Amino acid sequence: MKLLIINGPNLNLLGLREPAIYGKEDYSTLCEMIKDACKDIEYEIYQSNHEGDIVDKIQSAYKCFDGIVINPAAYTHTSVAILDALKAVGIPTVEVHISDINTREEFRKFSYVSLYAEKQIAGHGLKGYTEAIEYLKNKLM
Ligand code: DQA
Repeated sequence: MKLLIINGPNLNLLGLREPAIYGKEDYSTLCEMIKDACKDIEYEIYQSNHEGDIVDKIQSAYKCFDGIVINPAAYTHTSVAILDALKAVGIPTVEVHISDINTREEFRKFSYVSLYAEKQIAGHGLKGYTEAIEYLKNKLM
């Protein structure tokens, strides 16, 4: 059982970036939390600020990973390419957002990835990643 955790643009700046919205914990703290949640399985964490690199990473997950946890960040609201890549590989996917995108600006309410993801967790802070990992472990193990 192997999970791929993907983080999109600006999530490497957690802690520094709008802490009132995204919290004071930094990206390395998030990685530690993920490591903890994945202690009984194999996993890889990937972060990129580039849409095409995220598409490449999803494509390379085919037949290598059993589940994907993805926070596409701003690409959530714009990227048909990331949606199509997820559909192409057909890997069970949970979408995570630290903030509650459904109660913020209008443009954040629509998520392309939600058209494929089997679950969206939004507004639970960093613990949303742990919840997503638990969900996929329960489903896939
Ligand atoms: C985000 C929400 C997005 O709207 C935003 O562009 C992000 C982070 C979140 O985790 O709450 O970069 O995906």
